[in-house]
Amino acid sequence: MDWNTLKANAREKFRGACRVCPVCNGIVCAGEVPGMGGLGTGSAFRHNIDALAAYRLNLRTVHGVSQPKLSCRILGLELALPVIGAAIGGIAMNMNGALTEEDYDIAVVSGCRQAGTVAMTGDGPKPEVFAAGLKAIEQEGGAGIPIIKPRENNKIIEMAKRAADLGAPAFGIDIDAAALVNMVNAGQPVGPKTQAELEQIKKATGIPFIVKGIMTPDEAEACYQAGVDAIVVSNHGGRALDGVPGTAEVLPEIADIVKGRLTILVDGGVRSGSDVLKMLALGADAVLIGRPVAIGAVGGGAAGVSMVIGKMAAELRAAMILTGTEDVEGVTAQILW
Ligand SMILES: Cc1cc2nc3c(=O)[nH]c(=O)nc-3n(C[C@H](O)[C@H](O)[C@H](O)COP(=O)(O)O)c2cc1C
Repeated sequence: MDWNTLKANAREKFRGACRVCPVCNGIVCAGEVPGMGGLGTGSAFRHNIDALAAYRLNLRTVHGVSQPKLSCRILGLELALPVIGAAIGGIAMNMNGALTEEDYDIAVVSGCRQAGTVAMTGDGPKPEVFAAGLKAIEQEGGAGIPIIKPRENNKIIEMAKRAADLGAPAFGIDIDAAALVNMVNAGQPVGPKTQAELEQIKKATGIPFIVKGIMTPDEAEACYQAGVDAIVVSNHGGRALDGVPGTAEVLPEIADIVKGRLTILVDGGVRSGSDVLKMLALGADAVLIGRPVAIGAVGGGAAGVSMVIGKMAAELRAAMILTGTEDVEGVTAQILW
């Protein structure tokens, strides 16, 4: 399948839930939550895009770097490139039922595995959302990491243990879903967590623990103090709170505090290999990709997802050669203009 066919397929299957725009920037879909857009005015989604666009790379070609190394080790996993599929749940509600929850998760986890990396899977008020992720993780030999809503601690611990038993190499919570009304309306309370509560989760579970949705240095430090293994600098693709900064704006100050002490992942508006490289230069160890992976899954199933990641790998390789970057591990801000 070629790129244009994949996009045309996706556009047809989404039936308007995502327009598969030439640039996925949150403008056309502003306010479409449920849907694929950003919350409210859509500003937080757009800030992600604008923040990355504001950084420029130094084009450098007088050097000997022609075979850059894209592979890396993240949370004990050997990845072909520092790119991970982001957790996306609620397919029926958000994507006009373009795929079933199960087919979506299989496509994303399998497609990421085929591309040499892993995917995260989502959670929601309906038990089938989390269950679909677990099924895909089990079926794909542990190539997935479930992200659990910030439920009551005993529930999170129980769900994390279930995932570990099925082969999940790590688990996380999307702590920025702390005010999600559809969870509360379904009688499944969510809320913020204290450092002590994070510590309790870490101590009660045996696999690496990720906290997704950190946007300030003090909270990154609190995660470190709680024993958290990785944070995701994320504003939930602009779907948690309107008016927050882009992730590339806050990443450097967070990396200043916790780089090297825990794993730093980041997401929001990453659309190309150059964007991946910029995030690494700003302090991330790896990035997550949300909507482009969803377009791949809807337009071409696992093969479509693998194509999206493969395209990103080719662009990253080219960007590394053209900035003189030898290795994705240890990229510094010196490659930025
Ligand atoms: C339709 C949709 C559903 C999502 N569901 C979840 C979820 O269940 N859990 C979660 O941690 N993040 C969820 N996210 C957020 C993504 O994991 C990720 O943070 C975001 O999409 C990254 O931004 P990008 O789409 O610009 O790459 C969702 C995002 C979208 C667009």
